[in-house]
Amino acid sequence: LPPRNDDLKALIRTVPDYPIAGIMFRDVSTLLLDGHAFRETIDRLASSLDPADIDLIAGIEARGFIVAAGLSYALGKGKLMLRKQGKLPGPAVGIDYALEYGSDRIEMHLGAVKPGQRIILVDDLLATGGTALAAVALLRGQGAIVEQALFVVDLPELGGGQRLRAEGVTPASLVT
Ligand code: PRP
Ligand code: HPA
Repeated sequence: LPPRNDDLKALIRTVPDYPIAGIMFRDVSTLLLDGHAFRETIDRLASSLDPADIDLIAGIEARGFIVAAGLSYALGKGKLMLRKQGKLPGPAVGIDYALEYGSDRIEMHLGAVKPGQRIILVDDLLATGGTALAAVALLRGQGAIVEQALFVVDLPELGGGQRLRAEGVTPASLVT
């Protein structure tokens, strides 16, 4: 994606020591308050994709849903919700993963993906990549093809991008 880092970056607040001491939390909630910036965010992410190559957009709860919903609307593609533990009403399959500050579990409905569907993974932010890699494993386990992941923010020093590439997924982001 074009490296126009500064305009959106300036809208992302940094909160020190959240959720635990030592973490510099990059808070996209301040960017989301700006409607023009949100539109720009979605438009720029959408323009990096060819709708002809995509079957579904997968978003990760909770902040990832916001970005995935925008992209899904912009591209006219369906959206698959990767939900945190215990939120899905139907039969589900899940995977546990480690976070920069704890651990969690994401789940998806069985049957939501048809084998061979090409899925773009979307989240607000890439840190260690633990969440995104869990999502890739979960989706691939259901037969999806996942080769691209989009984020608003990448924190490259945490190594998530490298881990994704090592798994055959190309990450892209608007702000580092
Ligand atoms: C944050 C963020 C990503 C993930 C990035 O979500 O939205 O999903 O952590 O970290 P990682 O690359 O080290 O896995 P969080 O789990 O805090 O959930 P939330 O969106 O519900 O606040
Ligand atoms: N901001 C938001 N989410 C995150 C961060 C961060 O700095 N690190 C890991 N998940």
